[in-house]
Amino acid sequence: MVNEGGSWSGIPDTSPGESGTGPSGPGRMEAMSLLITNVAELMTQDGESRVLKDAAVVVEGERISWIGQASDAPASDSVYDAEGRALLPGWVDSHTHLVFAGDRTAEFEARMAGESYSAGGIGVTMNATRAASDEELLSLALARRQEALRGGTTYLEAKTGYGLSTEHEAALARVTAQVADEVTFLGAHLVPKGTEPEAYVDEVVGPMLAAVAPHARWADVFCERGAFDEAQSRRVLEACAAAGLGLRVHGNQLGPGAGVRLAVELGAASVDHVNYLEDSDVLALAESWDSYDGGRGPRGTVATCLPACDLSTREPLAPARRLLDAGVQVAIASNLNPGTSYTSAMNYCVTTAVLQMGLSVHEAVRAATFGGALALHREAGQDVDGQRAVGSLAVGHRADLHLLDAPSATHLAYRPGMPLTHAVWQAGVQVV
Ligand code: NIG
Repeated sequence: MVNEGGSWSGIPDTSPGESGTGPSGPGRMEAMSLLITNVAELMTQDGESRVLKDAAVVVEGERISWIGQASDAPASDSVYDAEGRALLPGWVDSHTHLVFAGDRTAEFEARMAGESYSAGGIGVTMNATRAASDEELLSLALARRQEALRGGTTYLEAKTGYGLSTEHEAALARVTAQVADEVTFLGAHLVPKGTEPEAYVDEVVGPMLAAVAPHARWADVFCERGAFDEAQSRRVLEACAAAGLGLRVHGNQLGPGAGVRLAVELGAASVDHVNYLEDSDVLALAESWDSYDGGRGPRGTVATCLPACDLSTREPLAPARRLLDAGVQVAIASNLNPGTSYTSAMNYCVTTAVLQMGLSVHEAVRAATFGGALALHREAGQDVDGQRAVGSLAVGHRADLHLLDAPSATHLAYRPGMPLTHAVWQAGVQVV
């Protein structure tokens, strides 16, 4: 709703399930309100994708209750003076492998000396992860989650995939559920050495899926040479869908292949990596969004680009510009993992998307906020598990906010590598 002055008036939030404020109805406690004002630039990244100047936001409990011009802001219980900084939605990191032990520095050094990446390195991390206790894995993952939060990541997906047996994948899923907002089952990450591939796929779609599904919302498969071929990937994805999990695919990372095609055919929420695309892949992804109408029609398959991984593996950068120009919905994620992308720094990923992938700052920020939420089906409020929308700033959405130590988001690319995260609110609570 736009008022006469061109700013948004506070749209009453009539959505059910007020949270953080006790039960609704008579006797309900009102949440304290916080006005964040003196915002030089505010990117909403919602349906209207507005960039407001001299803006303000009001947060009540875990939600945003008002956005508009600072001069029109309502009274509030407390005030935070942003002192002319830029405010964005918190990053939504829709692709991480957060839970693992050990590191692969030697493999990275070999790659910088000219070796190429291969899926086999996953086995090194599998051994280190299996050797760690659940407590150690949780503590490592919590430290990484804090690191991501300090960089502005307020919502994060994480995959299993370094257990690779029913017992170890189930343990990883339990740990992951304690530290990530979204859990993805990635038993089909690599066939462990010494295991016959078809027997391994039998285990993945049988006991492993049964053990992990209660802890996961999504399933993923590494559809790539050296990992799982098209038929094996299809079998895994179909079994996981039948078990009620949403689908994601690692596809077209190391060469052209079936990943994108399969992801679109099976209605996956996202296909990730997408470095090697045929024209037909781009077309299929674009067509998957034909009936999407800003939130009302069915969603298609998001193409998730992983710039930090592309640089670390020295693969050609995913063609984010070409995908956007074709009408594909694009996300940017960190792909935090010890093999191909040992970073959760979304600021860096956004900077790279602008400087090297040809995206505008607005497009890159959108891909790392709204795009990530779209890839996790969390961009619309209250439609799944009663959760509030993340990845965009609008009334009723979760108050996940990222205040930059800069007057505009352009500085993310203009001052690459500088520590620009000034303050972060997650579900209305200031955490940085
Ligand atoms: O997304 N590509 C497959 N999985 C991870 C890498 C895992 C690893 O090498 O440990 C990725 O890049």
